Amino acid sequence: MKRVVIEGSQWGDEGKGKITDYFSQKAKIVVRFQGGNNAGHTIVFNGQKYALRLIPSGIFHKGTTCVMASGMVINPEAFLEEVEVLKSAGFDTSKLMVSDRASVLFDYHRTLDGANERALDKGKIGTTGRGIGPCYTDKSARIGLRMGDLVNKTTLEKRLKNAVEFKNRELKSFGLEELNFKEVFKKYSALGEKMKPYVTDTATFLQKEVKKGTKILFEGAQGAMLCLTYGTYPYVTCSSPMANSIPLSCGIPCSSIDYVLGIAKAYTTRVGEGPFPTELFGDFADELRERGHEYGTVTKRPRRIGWLDTCVLRHAGAISGISGWAVTLLDVLTGVDEIKVCDKYVYEGKDVYTIPATLEEYEAYEPHYITLKGWKEDISKAKTFEDLPKNAQKYLKTIEKLTGIPIALFSVGPDRKQTVVLTDPFAD
Ligand code: GDP
Ligand code: IMO
Ligand code: MG
Repeated sequence: MKRVVIEGSQWGDEGKGKITDYFSQKAKIVVRFQGGNNAGHTIVFNGQKYALRLIPSGIFHKGTTCVMASGMVINPEAFLEEVEVLKSAGFDTSKLMVSDRASVLFDYHRTLDGANERALDKGKIGTTGRGIGPCYTDKSARIGLRMGDLVNKTTLEKRLKNAVEFKNRELKSFGLEELNFKEVFKKYSALGEKMKPYVTDTATFLQKEVKKGTKILFEGAQGAMLCLTYGTYPYVTCSSPMANSIPLSCGIPCSSIDYVLGIAKAYTTRVGEGPFPTELFGDFADELRERGHEYGTVTKRPRRIGWLDTCVLRHAGAISGISGWAVTLLDVLTGVDEIKVCDKYVYEGKDVYTIPATLEEYEAYEPHYITLKGWKEDISKAKTFEDLPKNAQKYLKTIEKLTGIPIALFSVGPDRKQTVVLTDPFAD
């Protein structure tokens, strides 16, 4: 297989960063294709922990080219800060490419994200506050700026003037201070200069590499249930984390994708508002949260905790054609006496196996569980499937059975080495 996708299959934070870093040793190129610094990807190796928000998790492997593709929304200040942190930690950032078609995320997008959330009040989405929604909104409204505009003073001036006019009307409607065009232009033309070395036509670059048969890893951010179209709308992000969106977001043919690795946490977490049928409350949820260190990488918010929901996994699997699962954080379930897995929902007395379009209906769904016996043995040093206690093996087999998708690997700790691969997605 030449082109492999790392896709979050739940509500984000499944361990995509860890798995991307692991397979980066095999890929020549690692590509982020959507989202922005709403993502928080944690990578642990050699006793060090790194958190990335924008830059692909392949950056730790010398010689790997990291591409930030056209579907992304990029805050140039946040990007340059991340580059500096990586450089000062001794990592090579010279092979970093930013698409000239990627959207520029401005300070005013963050201001408007906050204003929108305050206006929604009790109906707020619980966004990361990074301006993601307003930036994608401007892209769709055709008043956004792209990296190609940012690095060219003439186009920057023209397009920014237009954008500032629109944004001032919006800011005024919220009773917020209006922007001074000259100040905004000064700040962003300086940032544009600094971005210049990175900005290029990544679509043409990737097209050529696909033709050459180069091994490429695509790193998703967020997760299937946060997809703008197929997630729990409106409690979603504003892009599609599904593998389906890669060809368009990267500018490559649909036939480019060979293997989709669905990253699934052994239980479920969610940050922000919105429905979560298998959510747990009380002491047990608190215990799992502490054990799994389930606090947001970006916002430090405590993550909501729940049992594994295979309806959610089947939903992601059916839409993006997941080829195999990477089950992560399996070690966090060690010591739990009885583990529940949602196999279906019950709605108005009927069994339901799929995710409905409307929120109101989904909120009325009751999860149905099967109960499995847990294990007590330490699994954090497992190197093979057979090293796992029988009940942990059974748990993984149950996920395979309920989803009809095989387990390609499982993860038993945050470190790069705590990864057990059963099927290598890059194998021919
Ligand atoms: P991402 O957004 O999908 O990249 O995931 P995050 O990095 O936000 O959250 C996953 C968290 O789980 C991080 O703190 C990882 O270091 C950690 N992690 C990943 N895999 C494992 C695992 O198998 N076991 C444990 N205990 N932690 C893990
Ligand atoms: P990674 O890549 C978990 C959630 C927010 C909120 C909703 C919309 O680390 O898995 P946004 O700021 O995108 O407009 O917020 O989406 N969200 C995430 N939740 N992990 C993420 O990224 C997320 N990115 C956005 O909490 O509910
Ligand atoms: Mg995360």
